[in-house]
Amino acid sequence: MKIIMLGAPGAGKGTQAQMIADKYEIPHISTGDIFRENVKNGTELGMEAKKYMDQGALVPDELTVKILLDRVAKDDCKNGYVLDGFPRTIPQAEVLDNALNEIGEKIDYAINVDVPDENIIRRMSGRRACLSCGATYHIEHVPPKKEGICDRCGKELVLRDDDKEETVKNRLDVYHKQTQPLIDFYTKKGVLKTVDGTVDMKDVFAAITAILA
Ligand code: AP5
Ligand code: MG
Repeated sequence: MKIIMLGAPGAGKGTQAQMIADKYEIPHISTGDIFRENVKNGTELGMEAKKYMDQGALVPDELTVKILLDRVAKDDCKNGYVLDGFPRTIPQAEVLDNALNEIGEKIDYAINVDVPDENIIRRMSGRRACLSCGATYHIEHVPPKKEGICDRCGKELVLRDDDKEETVKNRLDVYHKQTQPLIDFYTKKGVLKTVDGTVDMKDVFAAITAILA
């Protein structure tokens, strides 16, 4: 099963993708997590990506596409995967589509987690992220068992550099201009499903599993 998560920054793509990955035993692939891991490790890719991420802009397609195609070619992707944060532009979607066509495969579902902009800004300031394993928490909605520490891997949790209010506004702007057109793209392919992302995350997940069942 190959799934794409669509939605604004902070809509809950990462939260739901992780739950899908656990339930269906497929890898959760987040280009944002891959970039953050590279930033943390000070790689050349990380230093290049950081310039864009810190402003809430998109990392150029050339860089992003290569990383994603390398990742989905790995062995653990044989039974499918859930993509979180990719594609984010029409050219990225086309490259993915062509790569899948070449091997006779296709995306099964594009799940659009719908949350209005007003809700997003409130959510982001409470988010805490683990830069080691990619787990996501929220100080009110999903607190870790021990404050500031990741339940899954025991590392320290941080407020992401791009979660400052001004940067979030910019990311929302970029989302509406560059990523929202993908809703049309996947509607035309007949695979788009929209779920209400404003309800409790368990209910969002129930709506998603009803679609995937
Ligand atoms: P990325 O990491 O993908 O960030 P994003 O799309 O902005 O999305 P977020 O991770 O911020 O939000 P999310 O939807 O995953 O929400 P979450 O589950 O955490 O990308 C970061 C940057 O990398 C980009 O800006 C860009 O520069 C670059 N990049 C990445 N991919 C790229 C690409 N393909 N091309 C070019 N550049 C790329 O949830 C948010 C918070 O809300 C959490 O605290 C969570 O606990 C809480 N929450 C979740 N669900 C609920 C709920 N139902 N109710 C209440 N709270 C909830
Ligand atoms: Mg995310």
